[in-house]
Amino acid sequence: MRSFFFFLAALRAAAYVWPDPQTDEMERLLYENAARGVDTPAFGVADCAIEPTDQSPFKGRTNAAEWFRTAYHDMATADVFSGRGGIDASIGFELNRPENPGLAFSETVNFFLAFQSTQVAMADLIALGAVLAVASCSNATISIPVRAGRVDATEAEPFGVPEPQQDLDSHVKAFARQGFNATEMIGLLACGHTLGGVHGNDFPDIVDVTEDPYAVPSQVTMSQYMLTIIGW
Ligand code: HEM
Ligand SMILES: *[C@@H]1O[C@H](CO)[C@@H](O)[C@H](O)[C@H]1NC(C)=O
Ligand SMILES: *[C@@H]1O[C@H](CO)[C@@H](O)[C@H](O)[C@H]1NC(C)=O
Repeated sequence: MRSFFFFLAALRAAAYVWPDPQTDEMERLLYENAARGVDTPAFGVADCAIEPTDQSPFKGRTNAAEWFRTAYHDMATADVFSGRGGIDASIGFELNRPENPGLAFSETVNFFLAFQSTQVAMADLIALGAVLAVASCSNATISIPVRAGRVDATEAEPFGVPEPQQDLDSHVKAFARQGFNATEMIGLLACGHTLGGVHGNDFPDIVDVTEDPYAVPSQVTMSQYMLTIIGW
């Protein structure tokens, strides 16, 4: 009898049954919006080009690009071979690393702190941020499916975010560790970098522009630029 109840419990965890506090809160944050007077995070990307503030040092940055880059840097430490990492909010412990330059990560985590609860971990909010950013910047034509129930890390993950000065072979190996083959790497780099730009404060060797959210070297698009970096 006892094992029967354990079996039922396992089934319940696998299939969504309403009400489910984690999924329901995640859906509330995803679908309800400020126009209805509801406090949900979508207002941060109501327009793809919204800047956190028009004051230095945030001027020339956009929430959508920062949220999307944060999701990637948080998951980029993942190791599919050992099963470690993924989107787990470990980025909060990794802010001082050279592989995480710029204000995007602290900005994003600070924005989402107001929505963290016993139902929704910071890791879920970082995933939600990526979904909201893509929805906004595609004018609601791209809807990425999202699940709730991630557990926040309690310490930093090993280093592992790719850096622009590294060579192609390192990038291919880093993406393989993250669970992506070379085709998927190119897709992620090219499409990921259609949002936002490079900031001269953080990468003065790449651009000298500090307050243009879409600044890329020689006015090429960011994704073309990234393909050039990886020697494609
Ligand atoms: C080899 C891998 C990668 C390298 C070397 C790389 C490098 C960079 C660099 C140098 C910047 C400029 C950051 C700044 O100045 O604030 C940047 C921005 C960005 N990256 Fe990547 N990146 C990589 C992969 C990715 C992937 C896979 C994604 C998403 C799927 C992504 C999303 C973004 C976004 C959205 C921005 C714009 C941030 C903003 O405007 O605030 N990157 N990346
Ligand atoms: C975004 O979608 C709305 C509603 O379909 C449409 O009215 C608007 O023109 C679209 N904007 C852009 C920039 O495509
Ligand atoms: C990478 O995987 C995708 C399917 O997920 C496949 O279509 C593609 O051909 C693969 N690329 C390489 C280089 O193996």
